[in-house]
Amino acid sequence: MIEIANPEEMQETIIGLKKSGKRIGVVPTMGYLHEGHRALIRDARKENELVVLTIFVNPAQFGQGEDFDRYPRDIERDRQAAIDEQVDYIFHPSIGDMYPEGYATYVDVENITETLEGEWRPGHFRGVTTIVLKLFQITQPDNAYFGQKDAQQLMVIKKMVSDLHIPVKIKRVPTVREKDGLALSSRNVYLSPGERQQAAVLYRALQRAEVDIRRGERSRDIIVGMIRDMIKAVGNISIDYVEIVDPVTFRKVQFLENNREHCIALAVRIGKVRLIDNIFV
Ligand code: PAJ
Repeated sequence: MIEIANPEEMQETIIGLKKSGKRIGVVPTMGYLHEGHRALIRDARKENELVVLTIFVNPAQFGQGEDFDRYPRDIERDRQAAIDEQVDYIFHPSIGDMYPEGYATYVDVENITETLEGEWRPGHFRGVTTIVLKLFQITQPDNAYFGQKDAQQLMVIKKMVSDLHIPVKIKRVPTVREKDGLALSSRNVYLSPGERQQAAVLYRALQRAEVDIRRGERSRDIIVGMIRDMIKAVGNISIDYVEIVDPVTFRKVQFLENNREHCIALAVRIGKVRLIDNIFV
C-alpha cells in the first residue's frame, strides 16, 4: 500500500496508472474507519483493479459550532484497516494543500440540498460537493463508492455528477449496522454507554414505520408522529427532523404513493453527538 499526501503527486500517479487501462475505484472518507467504510472498500476491491481510499476531514462541510475540532481521527488504525482490506493507495492531503490561501471555488447543487441535512446544516452540502469534485479530479475514478447511510449526500453527489458530466459511476452501498440496528458511524465513539443503548431506538422506530406502511398507513403525519413518539419515550434525545421524502429529489412527501419508493430520514442529538439514519421503503 502506498500513501500519498500531495494532490499533484496523487494526480500524476493516477494519470500514469490509467494508461495501463486499470479500473480505478475510489472510496472517499473522513477516516476513523469502521465496518461501514470497510463495506465500501470491499465493493471497490471487487469491482476495480486499483482501489484508492481518501482520508480527509473536510473543514468546508462543517458549520460553525459543529464538531470539526473533535471529529475522531486515528490515521494509524486507518492505515492498518486499509492494509487489511487490500487498498492500493491512501490519499490523505493536508488542509493547506486542499484549501491553500486564497482558495475561491465552490460547487453548489441546488434544490435537492434544500431539505433535511441542507436545512439543518446550511453550507454543509456545498462543502461536500466541493471536496468530492476535487477528490474526483485528483483521483479520476471509474467508480466511486458512497454509503446509503448518508442517503441525501449520495443523491446530491449523483446529481452533481450528472449535471457536470463527470465520467464516474456512483455506487451505492447499503447501511452497515450494529447488532441492535444502530447505523455505524465514526461519531458513535462519543456516545456514553447509556446513550449508546438509547440510540438503538432510531432504527427500531424506522422499522416500526416500515411495518405500518406495509400494513397500509400512507399519512406522513401519522408515520412521523409515531417515530417522534417512540424517540421521545426514550428521553434525552433531541430531534432535528423526521421526514418522509422522495428518494431522488428529497422533496418532502405528505402522502405516500403506492408502488413508489420513499425515504424516511431522521437526525437527532444524543448528548453532544448528532446522528442520522434512514431507510428506503
Ligand atoms: P464519512 O462520514 O467518513 O463517510 C464516508 C463514506 O462511508 C460515506 O459514503 C458514508 O455514507 C459511508 N458510510 C458511513 N457509515 C456507513 C455505514 N454505517 N454503512 C455504510 N456506509 C457508511 O461521508 C463522508 O465521510 C464525507 O461527507 C465525504 C463524502 C468523505 C466528503 O468529505
